[in-house]
Amino acid sequence: MTTLVPEPRVTRQDVEAMVRYYVESGPDYQTWSPGFNMHFGYWEAGMNPLRREAMLERMNRKVTESFEGCENVVDLGCGVGATARSLAQRSSGTRVTGVTVVPLQVARALEMTPLGMAVDFWEGDYTHTRFSGGSFDGAYAIESFCHGPGRDKAACLREAGRLLRRGGQFVMADGFLRTSEPLVGVLAKCHERICECWSMDSLPVLPDVLAGLRENGFRVTGVEDISWRVAFSVAHVPFVTARFLVRELIGRRSRLSRERRNNLLAPLLTGVVGLARRHFGYYILRAEKV
Ligand SMILES: C[S@@+](CC[C@H](N)C(=O)[O-])C[C@H]1O[C@@H](n2cnc3c(N)ncnc32)[C@H](O)[C@@H]1O
Repeated sequence: MTTLVPEPRVTRQDVEAMVRYYVESGPDYQTWSPGFNMHFGYWEAGMNPLRREAMLERMNRKVTESFEGCENVVDLGCGVGATARSLAQRSSGTRVTGVTVVPLQVARALEMTPLGMAVDFWEGDYTHTRFSGGSFDGAYAIESFCHGPGRDKAACLREAGRLLRRGGQFVMADGFLRTSEPLVGVLAKCHERICECWSMDSLPVLPDVLAGLRENGFRVTGVEDISWRVAFSVAHVPFVTARFLVRELIGRRSRLSRERRNNLLAPLLTGVVGLARRHFGYYILRAEKV
């Protein structure tokens, strides 16, 4: 007899936790990035590693450059739309649709978007969106599928696969566990704490996600380990955190909520586990819908 294992789903509690987290900690992202890039940056030769915003914007380009010239692209887990605006600005004729589960992010994204720019934002769960199958020629997810259920993020990949037409391109940029080998000791504790702080089940597991892509009708076209390029912006985290704490706790005498404390702790822990190169890495995955 075969036992059917139910696929992990995004539950109402997950959504509530996510919304609470981003509503509480969302404004603090401005300390990280004036343009509200809610991700790490990409460094390449010639860039000043002290200029964080330029590296964050370079990540936007790196992930979306293959979509320049596409007609319809979807950003799955769009934050307040920094990447969507970056792509729309560079590629006239491309309409970018952002989806986020946090209503406040939709409102902020719309506020931050210049009139007439070809972007729109929708509140919704990226594992079950409102859009018809095959309606996009590109889809990407920057540091957002990590919040999706399971280690293989299958529900997220299935929806990305459904939304893309044949030949459509998918790009995912995120921190990954490199193998399915169970973590032990301090690393396991750090991973657990990062997951708690950022409302995640698990970081995506590279071989599981690659298998998930294939199972959901994709041909994997690229697996790029960009860990050391991302490390330059990760190195900013302790300084940004220290400046933030001085300003909030001493300057403004604020009391930080649990969500805001979590938002400070998780990137610090990410920097620590990032040193365990055998277990953790930052990757850009590229795939084509076949
Ligand atoms: C770390 S932020 C990254 C935002 C954006 N991609 C960026 O790089 O600026 C993670 C994003 O994933 C979104 N997210 C998490 N779970 C989601 C879900 N089930 N459906 C839609 N969006 C989700 C959050 O609302 C948030 O916008």
